[in-house]
Amino acid sequence: MARLKLLPGGATAPDAPGTVTAEAEKDRFRAFPKGTHITVRGLTKRFEGSTLYDGFDLDIPKGKIVSVFGPNGCGKSTLINMISGILPYDAGEILFDGKDVRETRIGYVFQNYREAVFPWLKAIDNIRYPLKFLKLSRAEADARVDALLASFDVKIDLARYPYQLSGGQQQLVSIMRALVVEPEVLFLDEPFSALDYEMTLFLRDRLQKVLVERKVTTLLVSHDLDEAVELADEVLLLTKKPTRVAARIAYDAPRPRTADTTLTEDFIRVKSESLEIFLREVRK
Ligand SMILES: Nc1ncnc2c1ncn2[C@@H]1O[C@H](COP(=O)(O)OP(=O)(O)OP(=O)(O)O)[C@@H](O)[C@H]1O
Ligand SMILES: [Mg+2]
Repeated sequence: MARLKLLPGGATAPDAPGTVTAEAEKDRFRAFPKGTHITVRGLTKRFEGSTLYDGFDLDIPKGKIVSVFGPNGCGKSTLINMISGILPYDAGEILFDGKDVRETRIGYVFQNYREAVFPWLKAIDNIRYPLKFLKLSRAEADARVDALLASFDVKIDLARYPYQLSGGQQQLVSIMRALVVEPEVLFLDEPFSALDYEMTLFLRDRLQKVLVERKVTTLLVSHDLDEAVELADEVLLLTKKPTRVAARIAYDAPRPRTADTTLTEDFIRVKSESLEIFLREVRK
């Protein structure tokens, strides 16, 4: 542990002894590192009597990509679903620059793109869909879509319906649909796990480019450690349940990172440190 470059604000706070005053409670929120975007405090979630999260604290830095990695069933999806406002929690507070999730523009990319894209809409209309809910002129909406298509260097025929596209192309559509609202925060839950390797490498590459260009705060759940490290500014390792932060490991290799990055010494070091912590948790 001691030799790892651990980041501040990651460890779960020890149980506060005695009564927590309102002032002390405020201090917990104030005490986040500079550059923090998302503050999670005292998050508690129970399922059918068993406690998954109990007083969980976390700070997510602004404009960075954080990969969430941990044992099967430790609560990775539950965590990002609670932070993104999809899933209610039993206690605690989650703030985005001090604001509620409802005052924050978020995007979410699901693992199961087949259920996420609208089958009755052409690819282009899937991508445009969320813009209906923003007050944009036609020209502004077009400009947003065009910029996104250019960034992703899209070669597919967007007049096609989802059933006429490959899985990877459907996931590309669903990623662009999540980004078209220009989210401040993007959540992705194992977005590439059902795709072939070539498409995965392509999407990792393009997604990374857009996220870095737009400085989107990103929480990416991945069960592929190479992917988790390659994309991350920070790897967030979780314990088995009841879930806590096992470690946070910074990775500051230059971008753009590619499959070649995974061959570098620095990458291999971060990956093996992550793996060591992961295995320690799994064997507990
Ligand atoms: N709706 C639910 N009702 C009851 N238990 C649930 C529910 N959703 C999740 N759980 C339980 O909470 C735990 C965490 O689930 P979650 O899906 O968040 O884990 P995960 O880390 O994303 O797992 P995986 O690696 O399989 O994707 C699991 O033990 C799961 O069985
Ligand atoms: Mg999951």
